Amino acid sequence: MNNFEYANPVKIVFGKGQIQRLPELIPAGAKILMTYGGGSIKKNGVYDQVVKALENFDVVEFGGIEPNPQYSTLMKAVEIVKNQSIDFLLSVGGGSTLDGTKFIAAASKYQGEDPWDILAKGAPITDALPLADVITLPATGSEMNCLAVVSKKETTEKLAFGSPYVFPKFSIIDPTVTFSLPPRQVANGIVDTFIHVVEQYVTQPQHATLQDRQAEAIMLALVEEAPKLKENPNDYDVRANLFWMATQALNGWLNVGVLQCWATHNIGHELTAQLGVDHGQSLALVLPGVWKSQRKEKGDKIRQLGRRVFGINEPDPEKAVDLTIEATKNFFRSVGIDASREAYGVTDQVIKNIADLIDSRGVKFGDRANIDGAKIIEILNLCD
Ligand code: NZQ
Ligand code: ZN
Repeated sequence: MNNFEYANPVKIVFGKGQIQRLPELIPAGAKILMTYGGGSIKKNGVYDQVVKALENFDVVEFGGIEPNPQYSTLMKAVEIVKNQSIDFLLSVGGGSTLDGTKFIAAASKYQGEDPWDILAKGAPITDALPLADVITLPATGSEMNCLAVVSKKETTEKLAFGSPYVFPKFSIIDPTVTFSLPPRQVANGIVDTFIHVVEQYVTQPQHATLQDRQAEAIMLALVEEAPKLKENPNDYDVRANLFWMATQALNGWLNVGVLQCWATHNIGHELTAQLGVDHGQSLALVLPGVWKSQRKEKGDKIRQLGRRVFGINEPDPEKAVDLTIEATKNFFRSVGIDASREAYGVTDQVIKNIADLIDSRGVKFGDRANIDGAKIIEILNLCD
């Protein structure tokens, strides 16, 4: 196992009726910027709950953070933070609102000239406004990590950053708020959760028994619980289980001391930047291509996943990989994502644009850093 350091300061407040605990969780006297997305919280009653809970606080609102949050939108919030002496950020919404809020927190305190450098150049973050969240969509794990992904449509970029300064102070996870999710977002969240696990697991065997078993536990639990939603979308316990799986899939427990891949995410982000494909759908499309292209490098872990998660006991190693890829795609289909290049508009030209962009940035993806532009072309051509 590799050396590692681990710290996660996020307080999780989980369960029904927990939004009303906001006043005891937010520092007394804080001047709050409440951030939210396109309005789902106004339809499902979450907005009213938050506003009521914060009635004794000074609250400024900032709505309109888009899915795949846009830099230009977030910079408008940074202006408000500076002009109105905001000292606490509360994100109320999905991963996009929360990621955007993490960026607002860092950009508000950024001393350099252009806050985009945080994403494009990995400019160091030395301070951030404190933030917390009411998370409404089980998917990203953003509620218990210090990562964020921000997009810039002017330059077709979608980039990530991470800093311990943007860990939420607390995250309220009330699974009842997910009853209002459209089926498409539920499916995106299940696939995102599964693939977060995979990115930290399907690398190379590393004798990290506990991390492997924890990863398998999340995948097994997902495969067990996801179909129950179809039968009864209003089952609180199913919703609660799925949310806790999403949170744990990317809170840092699975990747201590082991290699991580993230090639599927990196390529998926480019598809979203180019074509606006939902994050979860982009991943469902790309993952089989990554596995097919890296079948030699990743074969041992793909087979281990197939055996332990999908019960595939095929003695022929190549067939075992193929069966695992098929079982994974079938799982995605069973939750409602049948990814296809044609449906998402992934043309040869788009593939070439992405490959050129990645080469021009001089980056290589994957746990072996062996995926460059040419490999991306191969991978996307191996996708359905
Ligand atoms: O904007 P509103 O009106 O709120 O509607 C949203 C949005 O349209 C809606 N929604 C959210 N909660 C709802 C709801 N609708 C009804 N009821 C609710 N309870 O769902 C739509 C999608 O929301 P979004 O926040 O975009 O989805 P998600 O949570 O999947 O976040 C996706 C973003 O997170 C990034 C992705 O790249 C993408 O930009 N990621 C962040 C990560 C992290 N911070 O660690 C890791 C991930 O791999 C991912 O890259
Ligand atoms: Zn993801």
